Amino acid sequence: MSRVTVFGSINMDLTVTTKVMPEQGETVLGEQFATYPGGKGANQAVAAARIGTVVRMIGVVGDDVFGKDLLNHLSSEGVDTGGIYQLSGMATGTATIIVNDHDNRIIVAPGANHGLTPEMVYKQESLIEQCDVLLVQLEIPIETIGAVAVLAEKHEILLIVNPAPYQKLPETFLERASFVTPNETEARMLTADDPWVESKLITTKGKEGVSILVKGEQITVQGYPVEPVDTTGAGDTFNGALAAKLSAGTELNESVAFANAAAALSVMKPGAQSGMPTTKQVLTFLQEQDNN
Ligand code: RIB
Ligand code: NA
Repeated sequence: MSRVTVFGSINMDLTVTTKVMPEQGETVLGEQFATYPGGKGANQAVAAARIGTVVRMIGVVGDDVFGKDLLNHLSSEGVDTGGIYQLSGMATGTATIIVNDHDNRIIVAPGANHGLTPEMVYKQESLIEQCDVLLVQLEIPIETIGAVAVLAEKHEILLIVNPAPYQKLPETFLERASFVTPNETEARMLTADDPWVESKLITTKGKEGVSILVKGEQITVQGYPVEPVDTTGAGDTFNGALAAKLSAGTELNESVAFANAAAALSVMKPGAQSGMPTTKQVLTFLQEQDNN
């Protein structure tokens, strides 16, 4: 059975939709406010689970209402939450998000996500080593990402590093990554810092699709002309779906094409997770596109 472990953040997204983004010092009247389960880690875990792989998540929530809700939610999505710590005295991570139909702006307050230590990761080594793919983003402490990279190397497990939000990583972590998956903004910063990473780069470009630059070979997978409702979590959908496909042994280009379609579908519903498709929905969408 293919298995993915996602290491990362678990947030409650506090989302307000608006037609006008406020300028500096400006107040605008927006539209709706809603809370949605989010966090790059949790989003990617849910995306992979919807595709139909066995997913375990390692992360931290606080001992508060958001933490309880998010844990229940992840279980209801079929994610194994046995690796999630609930720590008292810490606030569950939040993301304050402003959304209009083509853009989103996010401020994350990491809270309990910063309580995920390397020790917590090493403690779960016996379960981690049974996995086919490890997936990590940068909303958890950098030394914890280092622990993930160490275990990936030790047990020769495929490791996907999604460098979001971007910060410079120690070279050894990136060396241990099988693929690095920035968006275009992150890719610019990443390749300025570590040009050599271009040998394993998968860059998501929104409606422009995805560019794969692996071992000197460049391939572009076209995007889809969909009408977005909320693009929050599109990159996470891509990463989760990619991990799910790779864990099942699907080859790289086909996995990327599938994940690209999954991400296109995800933007048609509000919140980060509600539009994340099942395998059946992705296949139906791909067939419709073929017929057009
Ligand atoms: O990638 C989108 C996610 O980033 C949101 O769900 C928010 O929680 C932030 O982590
Ligand atoms: Na969405």
